[in-house]
Formats: sequence, structure tokens, C-alpha cells
Amino acid sequence: MNRPLIKEYSFSGEEYDELRRIIGDRVGIALSDGKRDLVYSRVSRRLRARGLSSFAEYLALLRRGDEEELAELVNAMTTNVTQFFREAHHFEYLMSRMLPEVIGEGSRDKVIRIWSAGCSSGEEPYSIAIVLAEFLDRHPGWKGEVWATDVDGAILRQAEEGVYSIDRLKQVSRDRLRRFFLKGSGPNEGKARVGKTLRDLVQFERVNLIEKWPVRNRFDAIFCRNVIIYFDRSHKGQVVEGFSEHLRPVGHLFLGHSESLHGLTNRYRLIGQTIYRLR
Ligand SMILES: C[S@@+](CC[C@H](N)C(=O)[O-])C[C@H]1O[C@@H](n2cnc3c(N)ncnc32)[C@H](O)[C@@H]1O
Repeated sequence: MNRPLIKEYSFSGEEYDELRRIIGDRVGIALSDGKRDLVYSRVSRRLRARGLSSFAEYLALLRRGDEEELAELVNAMTTNVTQFFREAHHFEYLMSRMLPEVIGEGSRDKVIRIWSAGCSSGEEPYSIAIVLAEFLDRHPGWKGEVWATDVDGAILRQAEEGVYSIDRLKQVSRDRLRRFFLKGSGPNEGKARVGKTLRDLVQFERVNLIEKWPVRNRFDAIFCRNVIIYFDRSHKGQVVEGFSEHLRPVGHLFLGHSESLHGLTNRYRLIGQTIYRLR
């Protein structure tokens, strides 16, 4: 795509540095020099939305601590790419290896708890919930809870709504579509909405991973996939070490396909393709 030669706003190196420092401090996202054009294009939209004429004005607003705009900035800077059953081997492992092991564990309550940290528009937690629902069918007496969190308030509202166009549901089998989704009609033609079984299993909450987490229970598994890849090194380490304190002894941590704990912590051991468990 051709980029315009003349930019609508001037954007100095100092302004970029200040903006990336603010973003880094807020959400841990590390922005390299090469991300300057991306930041320009995403933040320009905020300048337009606020009717501002320069990055200097925008930064002044942020410096005054405008919380609403700081949240909008975070929403603009997060990358929300996701899909149902992304990295399918994780869901196969969950169904065939991890969940049977969990229920084989000695004395414990009969609730399986899974955290989807950085859940974006909901495809990940709903995929987990589908597997959990199918597993629970065969294990009466057990319950499941999926805690789905993200720092981006706008994407979290979409996730909670749970409405997807049919082309985003390609990875969901026909049988699962029939059982877990409601087909839209009229203005919702071509879309499907998650049904009650999944809604009852998933609870959404806005959580910033680099702040204190309102965790209430220990988890059997934490899915934090394609999230820490955007973080600077010290936040990566802080977050994965933090997870280890909220996992049950048999707990598993699932990372994204190009993420690794190498050099970040030694609290886990690798047991499968980007699947870790506590030592
Ligand atoms: C690329 S998506 C990954 C979605 C899903 N986990 C997957 O693998 O398909 C990354 C998500 O992490 C969220 N995120 C980024 N920084 C975060 C932070 N500090 N706290 C919580 N979520 C964050 C973004 O808002 C975004 O929705």
C-alpha cells in the first residue's frame, strides 16, 4: 500500500519516545523504533476523535492524567488478532491429557478453573469453554469456570456480546456450532451468538496484567497466549512468575506458538509444544 508522503500531523522523535514510555508504563507493551509509523497511524485516530491539531496537544492531555483518554490510548495500541481454536493442539491436550489428570487428582473441590489472560474478543475463552462443556458432560458432579480477562475495555465488550460472523467460526465444527451457538436471522443473518452453555461457563473482567490481579482462586490452567510477546522483558518475567503463584500444583501454563519462558523464570518445565507446568 502507498503511504502518503505528507503526514497530517507532525510527530517528533521526542513525542514518540514520550508516547511509548506512557504505553510501556501503562500496559507493559514495548514499542521498538520500527513501530513509529504504526503508533502514528493508531494514535492519529485519537487526535481526530478528540478534535486536536497536534501530538503535543494530545500528550498534554495525557500528562494531565485524563484517565478516559489513557484507556482509549491503550485500546488503540493493543493488537487483538485471535481466532477460535487457535493452536488447536492446546485444546486437544486439554481434552485428552490435562482434564483427565485434573479429575484424577486426590482431595480437591470439583470445580475446574481456567484463566484466559488476554482473551481479546472472546474466541479463546469460548473455545476453552466448549472443550470444558464436552468434558463435563462425561463427568457429572464436576463444574467448570473460565475467567476471561483483557486490558482493552472495548474488545472485552465485544467478547461479552459473543456475536461472530460465520466466517470467523470456520474452526468450529458443525456439531459444535449447532450445540453451542444460536444462528442469527434478519439483521443478524450471517452471524452467530454464543449460547447459554458457554455464557454460563465464562466470566469476563477487565484486568491489566501488569497491575495487581483480583484473583480469587487457584487455576488448573492459565492460557496466556500471544500476549507477553508484546511486553518488555521485565514485565514478561513478572507476569509469568505471578502466574505460578496462582496455579494449582498440577497447573498448566499455555503460551503462544512463538513465546517461550526461556531466560524468564525457572518455576516451570516444558512438557509439550508451548505447554508448561510447575516444577
Ligand atoms: C493478540 S491478542 C491474543 C488473544 C488470544 N490470547 C489468542 O492467543 O488468540 C493479545 C491480547 O492481549 C491483550 N493485552 C495486551 N496487554 C495487556 C495487558 N497489559 N493486560 C491484559 N491484557 C493485555 C490485548 O488487549 C489483546 O486483546
